Amino acid sequence: MSDLKVLIVCLGNICRSPMGEAVLRDVALKRGLSGIIVDSCGTAAYHAGEEPDDRTISTCRKHKIPIEHTARQLQTSDFTEFTHILAADQSNLRNLERVKPRNATAEVRLWGSYLDDKPISDPYYGGMNGFEQVYQQCLALSNAFLDRVAGN
Ligand code: 4NP
Repeated sequence: MSDLKVLIVCLGNICRSPMGEAVLRDVALKRGLSGIIVDSCGTAAYHAGEEPDDRTISTCRKHKIPIEHTARQLQTSDFTEFTHILAADQSNLRNLERVKPRNATAEVRLWGSYLDDKPISDPYYGGMNGFEQVYQQCLALSNAFLDRVAGN
């Protein structure tokens, strides 16, 4: 299994999607899936070049999930580079659909559609408990996604 290339997408690429990237990679490695490539980006460029939010880093550290990412904005080539593009919420999904090129080959979906159709809510203006909730969702959604597409 080496042809899964997954891009997790949120708004700023400093809170939800870098955590989602880190958690999905960790869950895949723990399942023995070595060929999967995971990346993340934001639909907006405000935070491009930044490290993940301190609260994302500390939440990952608490759960012993390695995280290393530099924020970047979505680019058109992502739609042909990746096999799956997974949006954190419906607003991110609408933005993806709006800029999706005709020749897109990636499957573009709400990440939550693999489990419960729920969005990962934006934790940026809230407290640490919001980041813990994002982590728990990323973990459940990573398992649901890999159950469906990797078969193990
Ligand atoms: P993210 O969170 O989309 O999960 O990275 C946000 C980060 C920054 C902003 C909004 C959401 N912002 O407005 O700057």
